[in-house]
Parts: sequence; structure tokens; C-alpha cells
Amino acid sequence: MADDTRLDGKVALITGAAGEIGSATMQLLAARGARIVAVDRDEIQLQNAVAKLPVEAHPIALTADVSREEDVAGYVSRAVAAAGGVDVFFNNAGIEGDVAPIQDYSLEAFRRVLDVNVVGVFLGMKHVLPVMLKNGAGSIINTASIAGLIGSPHIAVYSASKHAVIGLTKSVAIECSGTGVRVNCVCPGLIQSRMLSSIIEGRTPGARADADSILQRIPARRLGAAAEVASVVAFLACDAASYVSGSAYTVDGGRTAS
Ligand SMILES: NC(=O)c1ccc[n+]([C@@H]2O[C@H](COP(=O)([O-])OP(=O)(O)OC[C@H]3O[C@@H](n4cnc5c(N)ncnc54)[C@H](O)[C@@H]3O)[C@@H](O)[C@H]2O)c1
Repeated sequence: MADDTRLDGKVALITGAAGEIGSATMQLLAARGARIVAVDRDEIQLQNAVAKLPVEAHPIALTADVSREEDVAGYVSRAVAAAGGVDVFFNNAGIEGDVAPIQDYSLEAFRRVLDVNVVGVFLGMKHVLPVMLKNGAGSIINTASIAGLIGSPHIAVYSASKHAVIGLTKSVAIECSGTGVRVNCVCPGLIQSRMLSSIIEGRTPGARADADSILQRIPARRLGAAAEVASVVAFLACDAASYVSGSAYTVDGGRTAS
């Protein structure tokens, strides 16, 4: 019987590919047999991340800003031209933005978070979907957050943006009814990462992300690893998840269970 967790012959397009969750996911999708098209705005970090991929992944690195429509149209058309299509789209690039109470938040900073986290996710789906619909198959996985499910002090704008990602995911999943395209999102919790450290430091200067007061609120009693988010994304990407669409998968060690 064929292994339906494999991605042999599939093309996986990943945004935010130079970041911690993006690069861990890229590695796992490549290990499962996918060809990789990696997108990030940080050209140097992107080249470093792509250099770690196996040659069998035939990696292609594309520098683009996901909040600019011409860049998004460009990375999709270059992926199709170079790799022949897009079977899996990990729509993952995101920023935490400023970490501050709402009364201190500038409108410019507010707009920048929405531009990357919401407009970027919208544009990615807008330009990738026609490719998948033409093919009658595909899996889109957007990156939301547990901050898209519950409130999160001092990152209210980030939280609003991730609530929007969940709404986009569910709505587009319904729009794709009967097409063979599945649309889901992942909601990572507290993942050991630069982004988490930045948020914790912004809230309480000098505080540690793995402080007891934080871990006590997580049933798993530890922070998550980027590789643990990657394994849920890899599941949603493959045919083993053939009946999964419109879902928001928490990867949070139980943090939002109560
Ligand atoms: N780290 C966590 O604890 C955590 C928790 C929940 C959700 N998330 C989400 O997971 C995703 C990845 O986060 P991460 O921890 O890997 O962060 P990261 O900062 O390590 O990676 C994000 C990547 O996105 C890229 N990027 C940012 N803006 C971009 C733009 N406009 N165009 C193209 N690329 C851009 C960055 O250059 C970076 O490489 C984000 O959407 C984030 O909101 C992270």
C-alpha cells in the first residue's frame, strides 16, 4: 500500500522559509519527498536555510515581500515556471510587530502587522489558488497562532491579525468545496524561538520565555519546538489528511485546552 504521508513528486511552496518554523517545515517536507520553492524577504537568511536542504529537493529560493501583490504574483509564476506547479502551499510568513499596550501602538505599526500577516496571507491564497484549482488538487496551510483563538496582551494587533487568518482559512475552505483543494491553518502556541523571546521581552524586560510562571500554564510543561509545528503542517500537506479542510489545528501543548 502506498504511504500517504509521502510527498514524492509534489511541489511545496513555503513563505517565511528563512524563519524558524518555515525552515523546520521546509526540511521535513523535503525529507518526505517534496520539491521545495522557498520564499522570504531576507535574502541572506533564505540562502542559508535553502543551503541546508537535500539536493533531491531541487530547492529554489525566491526573495519577495508577501505584502506586495507584484511580489506575490511573481513568486507564484516563478514557482510554476521553474517547478511545474504548486501542490502544497505553506502560507507562513508573519511578524509579531511592536509589543506594546494598545494606547501606545502607532497606526503605522498596526498597519504593518496587518499588511504582512493578513494581506500577505490573502495575496498568497489569491495567487496560488488558481494554480491548484486548474490542477483539481492542492493543500494550503496558513500559519495562524493561538493568539488567533484567545486574547494576548501587548500583541493585540498580532492577535487580531491571527484571528483574521483563521477566518480567511475557514471561508476559503468553504469556497473550495468540491474542487480537490483543502485549506487549513495551524495555531502554534509558545514555540521556542526568536519571535517568542521578542514578545516575552517586550512584555517584561529581562523575563525568560521558559520561566516557571509561563510553563505552569502549559499542560505539556514546556515550550514547543519548530519541528513539532512542522510535523502537523506535513500531515495537513499530504493525502493522509484527505478529509481535513477548514480546520485550525492547535500545536500548543494543551495551552488553549482550558
Ligand atoms: N514562534 C512562535 O512562537 C509562533 C507562535 C505562533 C505563531 N507563529 C507564527 O509562525 C510563523 C513563523 O514564525 P517564526 O517563529 O518562524 O518567526 P521568524 O521570525 O523566525 O520567521 C518569520 C519569517 O518571515 C519572514 N518575513 C517577515 N515578513 C515578511 C514579508 N513581508 N515578506 C516575506 N517574508 C517575510 C521573515 O524574514 C522570517 O524569515 C509566523 O506567521 C508567526 O506569526 C509563531
